[in-house]
Amino acid sequence: MKTDTGKSMTADQMVDSCKKYTFWSWSAQDAVNPIPMAKAEGIYFWDADGKRYIDMNSQLMCSNIGHGNRRVIDAIKEQADELAYAGPGMATRVRAEIGPILSKHTPGDLNKFFFTLGGAEANENAIKLARQFSGRQKIIARYRSYHGATAGAMTLTGDPRRWANEPGIPGVIRAFDPYEYRCSFGQDSCIDCGLLCLKNMEEIMMYEGPQNIAAVIIEPVTGTNGIIVPPDGYMQGLRSLCDKYGILLISDEVMAGLGRTGEWFAVDNWGVVPDIITMAKGLTSAYLPLGCVAMSDRIAEYFNKNVFYGGLTYNGHPMSLAAAVATLKVLEEEDLIGNSKRMGRIMAELHQDLKARHPSVGDVRSIGLFGIIELVKNRKTREPLAPFNGSSPEMVQLGGFLKENGMAAFIHWNTLHTNPPLCINEEELREAFAIIDRGLEITDRAVIE
Ligand SMILES: Cc1ncc(COP(=O)(O)O)c(C=O)c1O
Repeated sequence: MKTDTGKSMTADQMVDSCKKYTFWSWSAQDAVNPIPMAKAEGIYFWDADGKRYIDMNSQLMCSNIGHGNRRVIDAIKEQADELAYAGPGMATRVRAEIGPILSKHTPGDLNKFFFTLGGAEANENAIKLARQFSGRQKIIARYRSYHGATAGAMTLTGDPRRWANEPGIPGVIRAFDPYEYRCSFGQDSCIDCGLLCLKNMEEIMMYEGPQNIAAVIIEPVTGTNGIIVPPDGYMQGLRSLCDKYGILLISDEVMAGLGRTGEWFAVDNWGVVPDIITMAKGLTSAYLPLGCVAMSDRIAEYFNKNVFYGGLTYNGHPMSLAAAVATLKVLEEEDLIGNSKRMGRIMAELHQDLKARHPSVGDVRSIGLFGIIELVKNRKTREPLAPFNGSSPEMVQLGGFLKENGMAAFIHWNTLHTNPPLCINEEELREAFAIIDRGLEITDRAVIE
């Protein structure tokens, strides 16, 4: 096959060549069945045969402002003309521009930014900063978490993607999550439980020796592993615990940040200021790769006189920074954070409506446009419709139905994610939920009363 551009290729040619020569992540290669994606606009994309899909997971929860935004595309083109690359030691116009915009939106005194190419690298550098700043080695992470696929980030990761990559880096300890629907401490509700997960966290700190712990890293709202929204008081309590023992709090907002939860950063929902925030995905809305570590003044000042042992060839890449500056302006000027909050309220109602009518819906959770539908065989026993780290015929069928009916959705074990681009409007949201509504008839048939 000698075709030069995607345009001259058929859908089959695209898929065949991609499958023959390229290696897919997190998959046995034979099981991969990619959609030949040809173009995208707003909340929709089209395959090479012209079929339209609603992008109900914003690709990988990253196309936050939506597809095909002219302002970002033009900014990238202009930057390519002006200066495509500058080494990490150079000052550039876009590097100068992005700092003030970011620091306007990061909470508290998180005013200094280290740029990477993605989320895993941001977390790698966050723990480097925490260790070098504190002189301590241990890091506490949580089980239901994903922090990236590089060695350190993979070790921080609690979910089963870690297993095949063990042993990882030394010094990582894991704690349980504030997961109300499947509480590790046997509670039915977070109300009046006294936040046993935080008590357990403090016990872990005691056993590990708080003087040895550099940081606690958490996804403030857990992403892939279940859109776990912590009860009010959890984030505040975790902040206090960290303060009590001089431990840094790292908020991994790679997925939850940049408007996804209806606030600029997820921690803003609880008025908590972490010591470090990591971000990526929504920072450029994935128009180009970029990650970032935001650090407090206190940490930044320490490194005024002490060398930071970390770096990247593409640190502060002008093209990515141009995409980020344009994305941040779109988020600001098109009020997409506000839209995420407003549409999030409607999405929460749509979730509740599905729960009221479909017996296979065990739980629904959302904050802003970060949502999930958790499917069960039985509401009383809460038996999941697919096992932990597994699948089931019904979940596979549901995925097939949604795809068939023009929705690209993320199905993870027994859950269906609802994470559309933040530019979605009410009509589009209702259109998406009407498809899900029909799909859930499949999972309802698996319910055992
Ligand atoms: C919370 C969180 N942290 C880190 C990462 C890793 O980001 P990347 O894939 O850009 O390395 C992800 C990716 O999904 C994520 O969801």
